[in-house]
Amino acid sequence: MLDQLDAQSPDALLALIKMHAQDPREDKIDLGVGVYRTNDGATPVFRAIKAAEQKLVDTQDSKSYLGPEGDTGFVDALKPYIFGKDAAMGGRLEGMQTPGGTGAVRLAVALSKAAGVQRVYLGTPSWPNHAQILEDVGVETGTFRHAAPDGTADIDALLDVIANARASDAVLLHGCCHNPTGVDYTPEQWDRIADALADSGVLPILDVAYHGLGLGLEEDVAGVRKVLAKVPEALVAYSCDKNFGLYRDRVGAFYMIAKSADDLPAITSNANALARANWSMPPDHGGAAVRTVLRDDALTATWLDELAEMRERMRRVRERLAAADNDVPGLNLATLAHQNGLFAVLPLSKDQIVSLREDHGIYMAGSGRINVAGLHEGNTAKFIAALADVTGN
Ligand code: LMR
Repeated sequence: MLDQLDAQSPDALLALIKMHAQDPREDKIDLGVGVYRTNDGATPVFRAIKAAEQKLVDTQDSKSYLGPEGDTGFVDALKPYIFGKDAAMGGRLEGMQTPGGTGAVRLAVALSKAAGVQRVYLGTPSWPNHAQILEDVGVETGTFRHAAPDGTADIDALLDVIANARASDAVLLHGCCHNPTGVDYTPEQWDRIADALADSGVLPILDVAYHGLGLGLEEDVAGVRKVLAKVPEALVAYSCDKNFGLYRDRVGAFYMIAKSADDLPAITSNANALARANWSMPPDHGGAAVRTVLRDDALTATWLDELAEMRERMRRVRERLAAADNDVPGLNLATLAHQNGLFAVLPLSKDQIVSLREDHGIYMAGSGRINVAGLHEGNTAKFIAALADVTGN
């Protein structure tokens, strides 16, 4: 029976990690998978997390099962950062821990389907795994254009979809630091989105995977909060992979905002049942480390400093790239200064992307997405020169 399976090509983004690792060139540049890097190209464990892990080693007295909802202390500790001071939302908000942001997105889609959602709208381009999750869970994917060629968000495309949606539709939006384009909605556009969603009956699924890596912790969720203030119900998928540097520990959270507090127990019981059938319980360690950071003022201050340092470094990289706009005409590098987070998409052809990899040792996704955190003072000039070379400038 198993011999009936057709071979699947490896995930293109994850395959890049291996290709880059196998490249012997010392000046190779990894702009592929979305991990933060320092000026030295390293992805260190956060100082706040190291200290929290030490605390856990010293004090944790059991590793017994918790339950499908995971570490509720972790889930609660994140709430004020995501939802603001009035995190209780009149008893309409409940959350649970998930294996990474991917687990949270999967749970959001599966729960939506269980509640009757048949189609989920996705702005394109999007994180490739979004479409894969929709297909795997078995809902129809609707699409709309996320970014216009001038590097701004195509708000009309989204508003059009919301206006014409069926009652059984959901829309999946990136809360901040859009992956792959870096193009976020402006505060005014979020107002319009919130108003449109409020009257539509469309279920918003908000994916927040890069919180704090765009403009700031508050600014990055301002749009999400605008939506939540207007809509009757919503789902939020959250990742701690990047903003706590916990990638391989798989730390995510899933939040449900119900029409009324009375609806919440039935909704969470369904989410728990889906989690039980999928992964039973989330891995504990990373969530416990985040909880330990957020319950300790000194560790929280360290974490906030580390996050600010990352954000500011990526801003400097973006400005350096934007300043090279005239050196590589046609790539719209100037627009990168106004975009957010780890990613940007450069309008390069497949051949140019292959040439960057083979001739210059520069690795990026086949979509032209670059991870700006892979650039620093020491390699940006090489990157610009390589771009000029492959684009014939
Ligand atoms: C990315 O887009 O590079 C990250 O979200 C990593 C992943 O799992 O794809």
